[in-house]
Formats: sequence, structure tokens, C-alpha cells
Amino acid sequence: MGIIELNSVSYEYNTGKETAFFALNNVSLSIQPGEFLCIVGHNGSGKSTLAKLLNGLLLPTSGTVLVKGMDTKDEKRALDIRKTVGLCFQNPDNQIVTTIVEDDVAFAPENLGIDPKEIRTRVNMALKAVGMESYATAAPHMLSGGQKQRVAIAGLLAMQPEVLVLDEATSMLDPAGKAEVIKIIQRLNSEGITIVMITQYMEEAIIADRVVVMSQGSIALEGTPKQVFAQASALRSLRLDVPAVVDLRNRLIARGMLPTHALTAEELAEHIAKIIKTETGSLKEDTLRVNEDSASH
Ligand SMILES: Nc1ncnc2c1ncn2[C@@H]1O[C@H](COP(=O)(O)OP(=O)(O)OP(=O)(O)O)[C@@H](O)[C@H]1O
Ligand SMILES: [Mg+2]
Repeated sequence: MGIIELNSVSYEYNTGKETAFFALNNVSLSIQPGEFLCIVGHNGSGKSTLAKLLNGLLLPTSGTVLVKGMDTKDEKRALDIRKTVGLCFQNPDNQIVTTIVEDDVAFAPENLGIDPKEIRTRVNMALKAVGMESYATAAPHMLSGGQKQRVAIAGLLAMQPEVLVLDEATSMLDPAGKAEVIKIIQRLNSEGITIVMITQYMEEAIIADRVVVMSQGSIALEGTPKQVFAQASALRSLRLDVPAVVDLRNRLIARGMLPTHALTAEELAEHIAKIIKTETGSLKEDTLRVNEDSASH
């Protein structure tokens, strides 16, 4: 069984209108422990609604969400569920509540009534995990967007969650900030934390174990990044592009210049380097031969 199981989940926002509008429609999904899952989809496809259902912030209109077997509708388990699944949002400024970094990281565990000594240990560990230990006493408003988002993630880690759900957590950051946060997410995943990363950047989905593509409240495509990005025309019809690196790969494969397994920028660079090396290698030989020929004349 997955660490999170969605069984035929639908969600309707109470808009006061007569006609029902389901932001999520009959979604079933099993998230495996330790998995790095990426959820992509166009604006309004239901990604944030799905994220909020994963830790009980929203409760399904129909269907069930189980977190380690606990039903999110079971009020007695609400706290356990919040501790298990940490939710990180887009805007770091909305997630920082105090004026000192370490107080901010301690905020959630303090609210849970955890022993102050234990909190201190957790805060130090969490700040270290996101590389912000030297900013413990800094004022959050002095930090860059990427650093603030790392503090927000530290605040979640202080709860010792098993799953981190990141809803477009990098979308407001500059490229350096994005890279910092992605690196930390990858490391946390390698240490065993289950990651659900929601993104509009198809490039970011390449690093996932599995990609789920949402469209109009339903799952439209699902598979490994390779399987999903191979369906370029299906993605285009969902108003999503394949990442530039995958587009380049697909074109090189079509020309018979690349083995089909290269997918990441690194793999691609490696193979292109090989092609260039072989070509310049043979060029050099030709040049040598010409030189030898001219020398013998
Ligand atoms: N509080 C709300 N009340 C009413 N409708 C809502 C509310 N929040 C979202 N919706 C609607 O539900 C649908 C799904 O929205 P959701 O925010 O889950 O999509 P999303 O994929 O996260 O979009 P985005 O890429 O813009 O973040 C949209 O049609 C949206 O307009
Ligand atoms: Mg959203």
C-alpha cells in the first residue's frame, strides 16, 4: 500500500452557485514511500486542490484519502496526518511568521507542544538540512527568496514529516534560488523522504521517478518522465511543452544520432560530447593523413 492513497477522489469548492463544479474529478493515485512524484498541469487543472487534499487541509467531497492508512476525514488523526505530510507553498513570504529564522523553524513544533530541548535539536537539524544553519539568528526579511523558501522547508522538516508536498515552491524564485531548493529536495528524497513536487516547469519533472499530468481535475497522463515526455503531441494538446532538453533529445533520436536512454541534460551532454569527440577525432585523422600525404610529395 502507498504512503498516501487516493481512491476516486472528487472535490467541489463551495462557490454558492447552483451548478456543481468539480476541481478534482474521480482521481485515484497511490504514492509510494520514498518516491519522487512530480505533478504537472496547466493553470486550474487541480494541482493545488490535490496538494491540499494530501494532508487534510481540504477533505474530499467524495472518495477517500488515506495517509499511512489514516483517513483524512478522521478528525482524531488530523494532527498525525499534518505531522506526516508537510505542505510547502509558492510564496515564501506567506509562510514565514516570525522575525527570527530559528523561531520560525520552531513555530510548528512549538504549537504541537513538543519538549523545548527536543525542539532545539530539531531546529538545528532542520536548518542544517537546508544549509541555513549560519542564518539561525538572521531576520527572514533580509534573506533572498530561495533562502526564505529553504527556511520554510526547514520549518516543515522540524515536524519530521515522511512526505513533503511542494506546490510550485520554486516558481517565485530566481534561477539560483530554484536550483538551491531543487538540490535540497533531491537530497531529502535520497535520505528517504517521499516527495510530491508540483510544478509548471516541465524541465523540473525530469528528475522525478514518476510524472502525473493533470488536466481539468483528472489525471491525463502518468508514467516515468521518459514515458510521459515521449508523448509530445498529447502534452501539446494539454497545453504543455516537452522540456527543451527532451525536445533536443527527441530530434537527435529521430536523426539516429542518440541512443534512446539519454534524458537528463547531463546524459545528453555526455552523448553529444561523444559525438563531437568521434567527429573531431576522425577529422584529426583526415588532417593527419593529408599532412602525411603532402609530406611524402
Ligand atoms: N477557493 C476556491 N473557490 C472556488 N474555486 C476554486 C478555488 N480554488 C480553486 N478553484 C478552482 O478549482 C480549479 C482548480 O484549481 P487549482 O488551484 O487546484 O488548480 P492549479 O492546477 O493549482 O492551478 P494553478 O496552476 O493556477 O496553480 C480551478 O478551476 C480554480 O478556479
Ligand atoms: Mg496551483
